[in-house]
Amino acid sequence: MTDSHAVSLEAATSADAQLLSNLLELYIHDLSDVFDVELGADGRFGYPRLPLYWSERERRFAFIVRCGGRVAGFVLATRGSPAVEDPDVLDVAEFFVLRRYRRSGVGRRAALLLWSSLPGRWTVRVSEGNRGAVAFWSGVIAELTSGAATESRRPGQPNAWRVFSFETVPGRVTV
Ligand SMILES: CC(C)(COP(=O)(O)OP(=O)(O)OC[C@H]1O[C@@H](n2cnc3c(N)ncnc32)[C@H](O)[C@@H]1OP(=O)(O)O)[C@@H](O)C(=O)NCCC(=O)NCCS
Repeated sequence: MTDSHAVSLEAATSADAQLLSNLLELYIHDLSDVFDVELGADGRFGYPRLPLYWSERERRFAFIVRCGGRVAGFVLATRGSPAVEDPDVLDVAEFFVLRRYRRSGVGRRAALLLWSSLPGRWTVRVSEGNRGAVAFWSGVIAELTSGAATESRRPGQPNAWRVFSFETVPGRVTV
């Protein structure tokens, strides 16, 4: 029997490419509130890096978030971050929860599942203009690290980036 509120993080395969591509459209549309993104002539934003998640499997990780078995969002993570020089640092590249599942703890649980499935040094970058996401990451990362994460700011357009850095240890993330 499926718990109707159970959140799971499922590694995506190339068979999920169309699903992720569709979810990325919803995600980018949400982010167009914050960033100056241009819609293509075909009515899609597009995400040219998606195929790299199947061809660079040792450095790119794609996940589908499910709630009670239904698609509730997705996560893309990479080894190597635009915010730091160390090529082995893990980075949350994209993170999305569908609107109908928001503010019910799905994002929090998906983030904790992500960090428990990929332990290591992490960065999370969030635009200061994305106020909801700044509040979300500040809270979840503070909970995870008991306030031990470091925070820095990087220049960005149209708003600066806030960058969180922290480490997750195998078996130490309580989901
Ligand atoms: C940011 C996002 C992932 C949060 O997902 P979520 O499932 O709603 O988050 P949760 O329900 O787990 O929230 C946990 C806590 O984070 C904080 N939080 C989350 N969204 C917030 C918002 N919009 N405003 C203020 N605080 C927020 C709250 O403290 C919340 O706890 P509460 O609901 O008990 O107050 C989701 O809103 C989203 O996908 N946004 C669009 C894409 C995006 O901006 N992604 C992040 C890119 S860096």
